[in-house]
Amino acid sequence: MSTNIVWHHTTITKEDRRKRNGHHSCVLWFTGLSGSGKSTVANAVSKKLFELGIQNYVLDGDNIRHGLNKDLGFSAKDRTENIRRIGEVAKLFVDSGQFVLTAFISPFAQDRELVRSLVENNEFIEIYVKCPLEECEKRDPKGLYKKARNGEIRDFTGIDSPYEEPVSPELTIETHLHSIEECVNKVIAYLRDRHFIKGES
Ligand SMILES: Nc1ncnc2c1ncn2[C@@H]1O[C@H](COP(=O)(O)OP(=O)(O)OP(=O)(O)O)[C@@H](O)[C@H]1O
Ligand SMILES: [Mg+2]
Repeated sequence: MSTNIVWHHTTITKEDRRKRNGHHSCVLWFTGLSGSGKSTVANAVSKKLFELGIQNYVLDGDNIRHGLNKDLGFSAKDRTENIRRIGEVAKLFVDSGQFVLTAFISPFAQDRELVRSLVENNEFIEIYVKCPLEECEKRDPKGLYKKARNGEIRDFTGIDSPYEEPVSPELTIETHLHSIEECVNKVIAYLRDRHFIKGES
């Protein structure tokens, strides 16, 4: 690890950027089983925020594993490092005055808590995308459950690797009970209630 590193404070602050944007900046951390709907809902929320003129960006599991984290696999150690790096990137987005929506299974509570600890109190919104395993397996949008059941994929969350449910997430959306639109509206209403974005909920 490098030692001769000194933090250089930026001239334009996070508050300056938020003021110009006219909204808060924070991490919307979607967590849940594969196929629960993290990417679907995160992208739908992103579109809605975009239409409202709110600066935002989606960090999605598969895309990040193609680039930044392509050296990482799915062992417990690599999953932890995967989330740590995403957390650091998410923090930079918050600092840039934007909403950052992350769509990672992030099965370990400790890893999610680490990301929470990287940012300030009102900057981490944990959104539990809740959906029964049976329903996720029925959806199987990428055919991954089938492969996991066949033994073609090992350490698959929900099959032979654990998913630790969030204990007190800021929000829970149940995608087997509510439509995509209803799930999006719940997230937007939450952001309005907390005055993170303008408008009546
Ligand atoms: N209410 C809902 N919210 C979100 N997705 C839904 C809902 N109802 C049905 N679906 C469907 O469920 C699937 C969810 O897939 P998606 O790729 O979003 O999951 P994911 O959680 O990102 O999985 P992974 O961790 O593998 O990336 C999609 O095919 C989507 O159309
Ligand atoms: Mg996804």
